[in-house]
Amino acid sequence: MEEKDVVVIGGGPAGYIAAIRASQLGAKVALIEKDKLGGTCLNRGCIPTKTLLRGVELIGLVNKAKHYGINTGEVTVDFAKMMKWKDKIVKMLEVGIYSLMKSNTIEVIKGRGELTSATQVEVETERGEKRTIQTKRIILALGSIPASVSIPGADSPGVITTDDALKLPQIPKSLVIIGGGVIGVEFATIFAKLGARVTLVEMLPQIIPNEDSELALSLEKSLRKDGVQIFTGAQVIGIEDNPNGVKSVIVSTEQGERRCETQLVLIATGREPYIEGLGLERIGVATTKDGIKTNEKMETNIAGIYAAGDAVGGILLAHVASAEGMIAAENALGKNSKMDYKVVPRCIYTMPEIGTVGITAKEAERKGLPVKVGIFPLARNSKALILGEQDGFVKLVTDAKSGEILGFHIFGPQATELVAEAALTMHMKGTVHEILSTIHAHPTLYEAIRETALEVQGIPIHNLAKGGRLS
Ligand code: NAI
Repeated sequence: MEEKDVVVIGGGPAGYIAAIRASQLGAKVALIEKDKLGGTCLNRGCIPTKTLLRGVELIGLVNKAKHYGINTGEVTVDFAKMMKWKDKIVKMLEVGIYSLMKSNTIEVIKGRGELTSATQVEVETERGEKRTIQTKRIILALGSIPASVSIPGADSPGVITTDDALKLPQIPKSLVIIGGGVIGVEFATIFAKLGARVTLVEMLPQIIPNEDSELALSLEKSLRKDGVQIFTGAQVIGIEDNPNGVKSVIVSTEQGERRCETQLVLIATGREPYIEGLGLERIGVATTKDGIKTNEKMETNIAGIYAAGDAVGGILLAHVASAEGMIAAENALGKNSKMDYKVVPRCIYTMPEIGTVGITAKEAERKGLPVKVGIFPLARNSKALILGEQDGFVKLVTDAKSGEILGFHIFGPQATELVAEAALTMHMKGTVHEILSTIHAHPTLYEAIRETALEVQGIPIHNLAKGGRLS
């Protein structure tokens, strides 16, 4: 029988990182993947969507070029080519992961893995062979799948998942997106900018319901500017087919029932762990409706079996999955590493982008924490003006006594990069004083972060109203 020190099942951002870390720690590792390396993030999530978003961002940039004295012809989109380019980027990164596996001497086994005991994994390979691997440790990094919905008509043709949306041959004329979470707003951005008539339906009172409400409202405004029709606090009653081939999504809103006619309906109502039929029940790995149960060391209830990534539920983000994969591998190899979820940056790739970390002012209020909040509009930041992207703001939520940064929320260009300063500051338990006393380069977007800290302290510089000159 074949023997390994560690078998990782699942080659997404949790699994392949766990495999590399285990190999670094001296283990003989096999990585089992039934599909493509890179998982949802690389093949059906972060990477393809962000590549398409870069494409649609370029439409805006080319259109903006005339303000800088650059004349271009009419901008047209070759959608097939755009999709091909996305596939090329995905392929390049997939090849990159294979190279990493090779250089770390990790054996990649293409096939479906199943646990037959706490120390044995059976694989049905792509070629139909059965392989049994004896192993000391197992790391389950099985990922997630789009959550099923119970909307009448949701199983009819023309109702698609995000996987389907990334394979569309043409830009749809119209698209109703059910779910105004992260996936919903990113796809709304892509297809609205490509010229589709997009409607976004969210059942809760605001889109991106877990984020700051001012942020959500600003995003709503910018999506509406791109022509997106948005219903919040809305229930989808059903999806019907019309004789003319068009679909109708029946939505119950505060203003009454609405019928939204559309070519396609995209379901973006969340994801659920992929844990069925892998032998977990057979050997007694404990699960909940959120996924595989683990402790802070990513250990399951069965000794020697670890789990990481979307399959354990919690925060379904690629970077969290990778962090969990590292921790799982380290503990599998005898270390004592623990997950810390206190500082997790959240990035939403809309236009403008959103970058957040920590809690909102409302959450702080609910927790009874006295806070001081500062807001700085990007219209007062020179780099934002230089870029021609001055819509947006930075919001800092700080502990009123200690000045510790509790939350950070940016809506603006490169927000997904800028959030890094706040995340590192928070991880180091930094306060508003650390941000203030750090010289920030000029002209940069991140100067706005320091300006927000100045706002918190009541000593704003680039603020005509508060700075005293106009008051
Ligand atoms: P989500 O949980 O972020 O959003 C789903 C939304 O659908 C929620 O706002 C929910 O209230 C709404 N909803 C649920 N049922 C509904 C119904 N019947 N009618 C109308 N609205 C309904 O899930 P999403 O957007 O599918 O994303 C899945 C996971 O993938 C998330 O955990 C997300 O964090 C992650 N992800 C992260 C990205 C990023 O970091 N940029 C990008 C894409 C996904």
